[in-house]
Amino acid sequence: MSLRINSFEEYQISYEESTLNPEKFWGDIAATFQWNKKWDTVLDWNFSEPRVKWFDGGKMNITENMLDRHLEKKGDQIAFYWEPNDPNAKQKRITYSTLYHEVCKTANALKALGIKKGDRVCIYMPMVLEAIVSIIACARIGAVHSIVFAGFSSTALADRINDAQAKLVITADGLNRGAKKIHLKQMVDDALKACNSVTDVIVFDCINCNADMLEGRDHDYTTLIQQMPDTCKAEPMDSEDLLFILYTSGSTGKPKGVVHTCGGYMVYTSYSFENVFQYEENDVFWCTADIGWITGHSYIVYGPLLSGATSVVFEGIPTYPDSGRFWAVCEKYNVNQFYTAPTAIRALMGAGLEVVNQYNLESLKVIGSVGEPINEEAWQWYYDHIGKKKCPVVDTWWQTETGGIMLSGLGAHSPMNPTHAGYPLPGIQPVLLDNNGAVIHENDVEGYLCMKFPWPSVLRTTYGDHNRCKNVYFSNYEGYYFTGDGAKRDRNGMYRIIGRVDDVINVSGHRFGTAEIEDAINTNEFAIESAVVGYPHAIKGQGIYAYVVVNDANQTTTEAIKNALMNSVTAGIGKIAKPDKIQIVSGLPKTRSGKIMRRILRKIAEGEKTEFGDTSTLLDPSVVEEIVNHSI
Ligand code: WT7
Repeated sequence: MSLRINSFEEYQISYEESTLNPEKFWGDIAATFQWNKKWDTVLDWNFSEPRVKWFDGGKMNITENMLDRHLEKKGDQIAFYWEPNDPNAKQKRITYSTLYHEVCKTANALKALGIKKGDRVCIYMPMVLEAIVSIIACARIGAVHSIVFAGFSSTALADRINDAQAKLVITADGLNRGAKKIHLKQMVDDALKACNSVTDVIVFDCINCNADMLEGRDHDYTTLIQQMPDTCKAEPMDSEDLLFILYTSGSTGKPKGVVHTCGGYMVYTSYSFENVFQYEENDVFWCTADIGWITGHSYIVYGPLLSGATSVVFEGIPTYPDSGRFWAVCEKYNVNQFYTAPTAIRALMGAGLEVVNQYNLESLKVIGSVGEPINEEAWQWYYDHIGKKKCPVVDTWWQTETGGIMLSGLGAHSPMNPTHAGYPLPGIQPVLLDNNGAVIHENDVEGYLCMKFPWPSVLRTTYGDHNRCKNVYFSNYEGYYFTGDGAKRDRNGMYRIIGRVDDVINVSGHRFGTAEIEDAINTNEFAIESAVVGYPHAIKGQGIYAYVVVNDANQTTTEAIKNALMNSVTAGIGKIAKPDKIQIVSGLPKTRSGKIMRRILRKIAEGEKTEFGDTSTLLDPSVVEEIVNHSI
């Protein structure tokens, strides 16, 4: 058996094998990688605890599989083309062999700073090659990386550093984002005022802005790395040793650190990469995500390198210098597989076909979508005008917690149905549960999307709080992993994701908990109480609607209050979480027991004026009327 599925029939055979004998199925795939010692057991699991171990007893290092293993045949092959934010700036390219040496140098630098296996390293970086090198360098020495998206605020950064008790932060002086420059180092300095676990900071000079450097703590990346030896022995890791932590939002509380481990994550990201995108030797793959999100982890860094692929890494944004940028980059590098988010597609649709038609997109073979449900109009436009009706659209459904793509077509081999993610990958066993938690066996149904069997890259725990992992994912439906999504299964067994059924909103493919935004609003002196809901937004998928009860003793203008509230969200989380609408209200609709009736607020945000279903438990129905009358 090989890793690669070459037809729908082969998919069906693989799928059946993967469910009848998962241990044989995944054991055979794992055997195609390089191990220092073979595993004792393929799988050991119990979803109730939860406990999931894949390839336990096996020894390996993921970076030997991403780099060393390819050097002999692919040393001179390009691993990454780096496309700068400014199209006129100098592009870069890095071969597998150079990447290997850069990773080793950086790994040696980490060691020189005292970083050891198991230590946590926070990476807060722009989309530059040095970020990727840093990630792999951590894995090389067994340090656990925790990447924080560089759009998060210093408060959000501090929360994540503290939760992981990171010893080291790798950052840059600043970053380029379209016409803007953002000073990252300043944010790190602010964050570190509230952190005491960090002993060192490595700063990459990206925008040449002469960031302040603190003697003894801060080190210039280039100077530090320069003197290091360019080989570094890979730390032997147990399959189940931590590879990384990535923070993601849920319905309640602060973002939690999703933990992924070495062996299973390696096997699944590579397997899913090759099959979903049908990547072939000499192809050029481009995933437009940021390394701060799971998509960047699995399909910019790990999956493609494990599979020996050549990819594009893009520093900039889709609309700079104009809305043709994505297509210009596709043309420039002859991109064969292109992977982006519906929000970008919708934004670029608006620029009109004249823009798209200036570019030659003939190299494209597979085009992918990820992060949120893709609406029919965007799907059709993507298929017709980017894929020119000859490229399959792979609508890939997955999550930070799943580590890799779970539901998707496999290149051109699977039947397509617009807005449907489609069938599960081999090894993935989805079920739909009804309101009573019973499995729905028929087709043409709708229910809560759960998984009944583990796959190699399922999250193992939430960092520092295993109970939270259990409560959030494994307790709603005993014996199942609960995704938080609702889904439909059509007559043919294809899945269509409806969206989150919990208090998580998805804004431009970015995940936020409503509670997290409310907490940020509530830190503001004007705010007494708030409730945040999502509502349909033409470009972002969902927009953020905040209802806030304010204390206005000094009769400040509504405009000024709203600005202040917005600033609190920017400071607490980042600009990406700023509400699209803020409505100042005198009270929130609550039940007699004091629970906010979000269902009603959601309806109002959607534009509903009269039909709110059962409101008999409302303490004060007049509140609803007032909110409706002043809704935005
Ligand atoms: C949530 C996970 C994993 C990629 C980036 C997002 C939504 C993701 C799709 C899709 C419909 C999707 C789900 C999921 N989602 N992909 N193809 N179709 N919805 O990762 O931040 O962990 O968010 O994104 O609601 O639960 P994430």
